[in-house]
Amino acid sequence: MEERRLGPVVGVGTWNTFGGDDELAVDVVGAALGAGSTLFDSSPMYGNAERSLSRAFEGRRERVAVATKIWAPTTEQGRAQYDAQLGWYGRVEVEQVHNLVSWRDHVGWLGEEREAGRIGRLGVTHYAPSAFQDLAEALRTGLFQTVQVPYNPLERECGHALLPLAAELGIAVIVMRPLGEGELLERPPADEELHPLREFGVETWPQALLKWALSDDRVDMVIPATRNPLHAAQNALAGDSPWFGPKERALVERLANA
Ligand SMILES: NC(=O)c1ccc[n+]([C@@H]2O[C@H](COP(=O)([O-])OP(=O)(O)OC[C@H]3O[C@@H](n4cnc5c(N)ncnc54)[C@H](OP(=O)(O)O)[C@@H]3O)[C@@H](O)[C@H]2O)c1
Repeated sequence: MEERRLGPVVGVGTWNTFGGDDELAVDVVGAALGAGSTLFDSSPMYGNAERSLSRAFEGRRERVAVATKIWAPTTEQGRAQYDAQLGWYGRVEVEQVHNLVSWRDHVGWLGEEREAGRIGRLGVTHYAPSAFQDLAEALRTGLFQTVQVPYNPLERECGHALLPLAAELGIAVIVMRPLGEGELLERPPADEELHPLREFGVETWPQALLKWALSDDRVDMVIPATRNPLHAAQNALAGDSPWFGPKERALVERLANA
């Protein structure tokens, strides 16, 4: 695998989903894996989602990858979060500094952990366009291999400067909020409006939105969150080619804005 690329692929987000509900986590992880999604994004901020994920990984750790986060104002607190993660997962495939919190303090010791082989890639995340300049500054250090930002037809700010910078620097892009936290699903288009997208393997409006993001070749991964195993399985299918061209992406944008 080329160093930058993580995808294009569909992962699974865990914010507001099964924090603490281990049985639900087992069902969602099982359905996602069965349909081809193997990476799960979490954070110490997401209630007990990290712990629930670890329970759901039991017996299949070698088949899954975890992208989790350090969300801590001090190195001491960050190391405590990381120790818990190593206890749950043994290693962390993608370790991200959540919302850039104290990133300059964390990047040194996280880099040492990566050197030691317990972390696969280091990343940074932020949900707010007002923080994108700071994100860019972090990326320019060359210390991070992934960046996580929101990107959907109604939130395209990262497309102006951040996605080009990530592409230039060879940094993998993970898309949070690909379904607009569910807002984009409130008034779905009629079935016939999705007809031109059928030949791209799209059967549902969420799949159209996920494929919209993945068809931007600066994007590596989308991580839709779900509590519903059926949704996890349907979402995974949006990670298969063929990819949309400009015409199909423009159609999805029109439908999202209708
Ligand atoms: N939001 C943020 O600010 C933020 C910040 C940092 C990181 N992240 C990461 O990004 C992940 C994704 O973002 P997000 O959770 O904010 O929002 P999202 O993935 O854009 O949307 C999640 C919503 O979409 C619904 N959904 C998912 N698949 C569906 C399907 N196939 N059919 C119908 N409904 C579907 C879910 O409901 P059901 O449960 O009913 O499927 C849920 O209400 C997070 O979980 C987290 O890992 C988010």
